[in-house]
Amino acid sequence: MNLLKFDCIDSTNTYAKDNFDTLDDKTAVIAEEQTKGRGRFNRVWVSKNCENIYLSLVLKPQNTRYITNLTQYMSTVVAGVLKTYNVQPQIKWPNDVLVNNKKICGILSECVMKNNQLSGIVLGVGINLNTDAATISSIDRPATSLNLETGQKINKEEFLQKLFDVFWINYDNAMQNGFEYFKDDYLKYVDFLGKVIFIQQRDNDIKIKCVAKNIDNQGNLIVIDSNDNEKIIYSGDLIY
Ligand code: BTN
Repeated sequence: MNLLKFDCIDSTNTYAKDNFDTLDDKTAVIAEEQTKGRGRFNRVWVSKNCENIYLSLVLKPQNTRYITNLTQYMSTVVAGVLKTYNVQPQIKWPNDVLVNNKKICGILSECVMKNNQLSGIVLGVGINLNTDAATISSIDRPATSLNLETGQKINKEEFLQKLFDVFWINYDNAMQNGFEYFKDDYLKYVDFLGKVIFIQQRDNDIKIKCVAKNIDNQGNLIVIDSNDNEKIIYSGDLIY
């Protein structure tokens, strides 16, 4: 793995995308601070210089069949690392990681196309390790940070090392076998099945009420809608 470190950058995802062709497969782009940290649905990702993780992985696997499952794979890896800090992580489908029902990690994957062909993916990960309480409360949705959950400053290098170790150990298997390979692990962190949830599929106010029934072997969410019909949800945001 190559490591590229920046003190301050607009967004590690933007950098990785803009330089995708010249960056090697398995390059990790890391920044201490981002001035334009981006989240899903064009949201802002608060990216202050406070020893949080702002990371983008450049990935160019030969077999791209399961590339979209990488976000769920990464959320499972992050949840596993968080557990070693004696907190109880939850995964909110598809790939948010929460602690005490508050978001601690967000993942933004962006596919890169060349000549109408998928050439790889930028897998962006933001993890709140040491955000102060005032900054956390300024975020417009329930959020938290590992230092606030544990009452201790978190060693970023140590966390990153654990994250890379676990991620690379199973990466090839996850890429060969897809969601089924790590499904049992993913489900250990899922606590919304059987509950009433709302699905938001774009950044608008439309929220569809349904009951979360299951996660299929491809990582899609199976729900029962208000007419008692079973539906497969391929993408979106889940609201409890
Ligand atoms: C989300 O939950 O909305 C996804 C947040 C992803 C944030 C990370 S931080 C590193 C990388 N660079 C970005 O601009 N975004 C991702």
